[in-house]
Amino acid sequence: MAKFYITTPIFYVNDKPHVGHAYTVIVADVLARYHRMRGDEVFYLTGTDEHGVKIQEIAEKQGKQPKELADGISAKFRLAWDTLNISNDGFMRTTDAHHEDAVRYALSEMYKQEWIYKGSYEALYCVGCEQYKMKSELVEGKCTDHNREPEVHSEEAYLFKLSHFAPEILKRIKSEKIKILPVTRHNEMVSFLELEGLNDIAISRRKEKVAWGIELPFDPNHTTYVWVDAFLNYITGLGWPKDKTRMEKFWPANVQLMSKDILRVHATIWQAILLALGLETSQTLFIHGFFTVDGQKMSKSLGNVVDPMEIAQTYGADVLRYHLMREISFGSDGDFSLRRLEERHESDLANGIGNLVARVLGMAEKYTGGKVPEITASVFSNVWDAYGSHFEKFQPDQALSAVWGFITDVDKFIDTEQPWVLAKTDTERLNFDLYILLESLRHLGRLVWPFMPSTAEKIFTQLGLPDELKVGYDEGKKWGGLQPGTRVTKGEGLFPRLIPNP
Ligand code: MSP
Repeated sequence: MAKFYITTPIFYVNDKPHVGHAYTVIVADVLARYHRMRGDEVFYLTGTDEHGVKIQEIAEKQGKQPKELADGISAKFRLAWDTLNISNDGFMRTTDAHHEDAVRYALSEMYKQEWIYKGSYEALYCVGCEQYKMKSELVEGKCTDHNREPEVHSEEAYLFKLSHFAPEILKRIKSEKIKILPVTRHNEMVSFLELEGLNDIAISRRKEKVAWGIELPFDPNHTTYVWVDAFLNYITGLGWPKDKTRMEKFWPANVQLMSKDILRVHATIWQAILLALGLETSQTLFIHGFFTVDGQKMSKSLGNVVDPMEIAQTYGADVLRYHLMREISFGSDGDFSLRRLEERHESDLANGIGNLVARVLGMAEKYTGGKVPEITASVFSNVWDAYGSHFEKFQPDQALSAVWGFITDVDKFIDTEQPWVLAKTDTERLNFDLYILLESLRHLGRLVWPFMPSTAEKIFTQLGLPDELKVGYDEGKKWGGLQPGTRVTKGEGLFPRLIPNP
């Protein structure tokens, strides 16, 4: 049995989740579910990033303890992911005791091996990014992501010998031992490393500056740089360093998903920490697109932050899942708009899949008394080949288009065969066609399951197949799984139109 370990970034608890965070966890969920459907042993990890000066500052402003702020917002993330039907196997909080212990262990090991040393540094630091900035990265002296001037840090600190690992990291990225996808991102990282190289970085702050962090095990006057703490969640989420079995089974992660804002730190600091700890480097970093909302960057000040919970409550989780997966080509930037979501709801969901399922089941009720007729051969080209190969190439959005191509084929089949005419003239052919149609719905349910799990389950219920998902991948994609005589019922519509037909 193959294993599949997938991670998302852990999200800051400075504010409740927005639709950008939801996109990452939905994509990861689709890939995780696809691999589960294939029979792979899957581990899907997400979580919240809770330490650091950004959280400390916001808690102060709100008159709360940082932990109290983190508890409240972390719970909001978990609730949002439950509402969106996210099937994560683990949820890491960086304030979990076992995570904090593991961070201290990692730091002690790196200190013992002299990868960490005491020094001093002077650098520019953007609190919004929680990252050091080079002068060349700033525009008019400000961080472009946060439109804020970085602070000048000049103090005693512990430094990590990042520079030492630069040649090895570059080599591994070039040979694709650390694979960075899409290839444009790989090229960006290679030229960055070749042109700029890597300097040692400060991995601690004096406690009086940043109290909200994990104390260094070898110096109680310092707390750990939040990124070092955060990266380690990818392995503490597997129980490292205690749970050797789970770690050996799942590490390295098959895919670490994120968007471009945090690629550089993942391709450098995170890989160097792994090397320093004697662990394998990441297998694939997949950089999905960053999207705007109605053409503008999502921001609190513009008041255009989209709340995924509100959308799920208004339209249903599967509508949001479908829309994000279909609208944004995986790996490219995109735009989110409620108007497009509503348009797609009407065209692809209410008229597309919803109408097809209701139409076929309605005909089955009318013409065969709601019973599946005898098995006949498929008349459709095999959608599964295209579907599987798109997934293998990290193109879930295209796998989804292939499914909608299948819906169009089935719709066309109904229009040319005209079962309502056959009902009067040729019942043998009518039965033949209805088997094809009902069996197609079974395939459709399986095909959409990774994307829209609740919709798939409704389809299986209507087809009288409560245990369909227990059938293995190879068996399930064969033609003829639906048994003659099975009772089917046209249940509630899958996607009632937002604007009813006149
Ligand atoms: N806490 C760090 C990550 C530490 S991982 C060891 C962090 N958190 S974050 O809350 O800012 O989340 C950033 C991530 O959220 C992005 O990399 C991306 O996965 C997701 N997105 C946030 N906004 C997004 C869009 N507008 N579009 C697409 N993804 C977005 O960085």
